[in-house]
Amino acid sequence: METIVTNSAAQTEQVAAKFASSLRAPVVVALFGGLGAGKTAFTRGLAKGLQIDAEVSSPTFALVHRYEGAHVTLCHYDMYRVETWEDLETTGFFEDFDSGCILAVEWSENIENALPENTVRVTIQQGETDTQRVITIEPPTTNT
Ligand SMILES: Nc1ncnc2c1ncn2[C@@H]1O[C@H](COP(=O)(O)OP(=O)(O)O)[C@@H](O)[C@H]1O
Ligand SMILES: [Mg+2]
Repeated sequence: METIVTNSAAQTEQVAAKFASSLRAPVVVALFGGLGAGKTAFTRGLAKGLQIDAEVSSPTFALVHRYEGAHVTLCHYDMYRVETWEDLETTGFFEDFDSGCILAVEWSENIENALPENTVRVTIQQGETDTQRVITIEPPTTNT
């Protein structure tokens, strides 16, 4: 497990961009942390790191935004309103995993028992100042 402290949204994006190069699809990047923690900022950095040139915005209403890059597709989920297994199935989450996406999942708290083995857990917590964040990155328990 790795812990990183950032002091701006730009820094969080940079951390995510660097981390993105270690990802091999299919994989879930499960984001944990409350409103305003920086989950969307982190996902923006992932897109950059994956060389996807897109305006990453919160998929609050659509539930998922898919950003297609030259090398990989980033599927950005917001599970805030996903409450049941049926809800989850209708989002396309399992199909996206099976088709080899990198999935960035906000509000992973809501689908914790559906997360696949190949899940990296990223937790973002408020630090000592308004703009400080403590980010922990926990790789899958079995790395293949
Ligand atoms: N160190 C930091 N890392 C990420 N975001 C930060 C940081 N400091 C301040 N912020 C601000 O916090 C907010 C995070 O928003 P967002 O990424 O949408 O959070 P979430 O998706 O978790 O609700 C943004 O307004 C961003 O500018
Ligand atoms: Mg968000």
